[in-house]
Amino acid sequence: MERMVGGNGLFYPILGFASCVTFIYLSFGDLMPNNEKEQKFGFVERNGTQFMLDGSAFYINGWNSYWLMDHAADEYTKPRVRAMLQAGAKMGLTVCRTWAFNDGAYNALQSSPGRFNEHVFKALDHVIAEARQHGVRLLLSLVNNLQAYGGKTQYVKWAWEEGIGLSASNDSFFFDPSIRSYFKTYIKTVLTRRNTITGIEYRNDPTIFAWELINEPRCMSDASGDTLQDWIEEMSAFVKSIDKNHLLTVGLEGFYGPKTPKSLTMNPEEWASRLGADFIRNSKISYIDFASVHIYPDHWFHGKA
Ligand SMILES: *[C@@H]1O[C@H](CO)[C@@H](O)[C@H](O)[C@H]1NC(C)=O
Ligand SMILES: *[C@@H]1O[C@H](CO)[C@@H](O)[C@H](O)[C@H]1NC(C)=O
Repeated sequence: MERMVGGNGLFYPILGFASCVTFIYLSFGDLMPNNEKEQKFGFVERNGTQFMLDGSAFYINGWNSYWLMDHAADEYTKPRVRAMLQAGAKMGLTVCRTWAFNDGAYNALQSSPGRFNEHVFKALDHVIAEARQHGVRLLLSLVNNLQAYGGKTQYVKWAWEEGIGLSASNDSFFFDPSIRSYFKTYIKTVLTRRNTITGIEYRNDPTIFAWELINEPRCMSDASGDTLQDWIEEMSAFVKSIDKNHLLTVGLEGFYGPKTPKSLTMNPEEWASRLGADFIRNSKISYIDFASVHIYPDHWFHGKA
């Protein structure tokens, strides 16, 4: 279950299909001492299909710890954040994917549309400051397609409660203009947040490797993929209008959709083409810098071994 909630983030540039890097334990040599890394901490950029840092290729050995902000919000569990980042850095890992959202759930960052809990925001400040201390960059996800930590269901519920929701469908997160506007408010607040520990606005902080729009989006009510495509186009443009420093990805699982019929046989099974997501089409959007795939062979090929 935890794997479903966290999602296994595998990152590589859009066209770099050749190398699929999974949760890598390989140690890439000793890390420089922290103070040396402190001196140079640039933004990760992209040149074609290559990630770049300070003019050289940047390779990612990444992992998922979706819970960092949540644990940082609680004095009792807060030390786990440092311990996790320390352990990752020690293994030579360079990027950690984590949630920059918690909508309406316990320890919510956003308690209702546009209302933020400062204590939890400070917890996210702490996560970012700690990551930098350990020379680890963060891939920050902005909302969940699934229900854990609120997700799109919570946004739809809010709109419904305020009497402005057009539809009770959870997919109205993608098509309802009021809910799109909720989410844009969320994006803007997070991207322009000034970290209370470092004093740096999130959008100007090179500790952030990239933004991820949404964890594992699916819009099953529109299998053509048009609804999700339109949402990604609008939200990716919005992110880039506020923040031109950071890379951006969607957060896709990686299933092929109707626009690439020749690739449909590459999906685990036929159901994967009917989820309203469309890997190539979604990833080709000009504001999207790189793509991800999430792999769950235990679920997909259950009983087939
Ligand atoms: C980007 O890549 C191209 C092609 O590999 C190369 O010619 C160019 O110098 C690179 N630009 C930078 C800024 O590294
Ligand atoms: C939305 O999703 C939640 C959680 O999966 C579910 O309980 C609810 O029934 C869904 N709403 C609709 C209208 O399908």
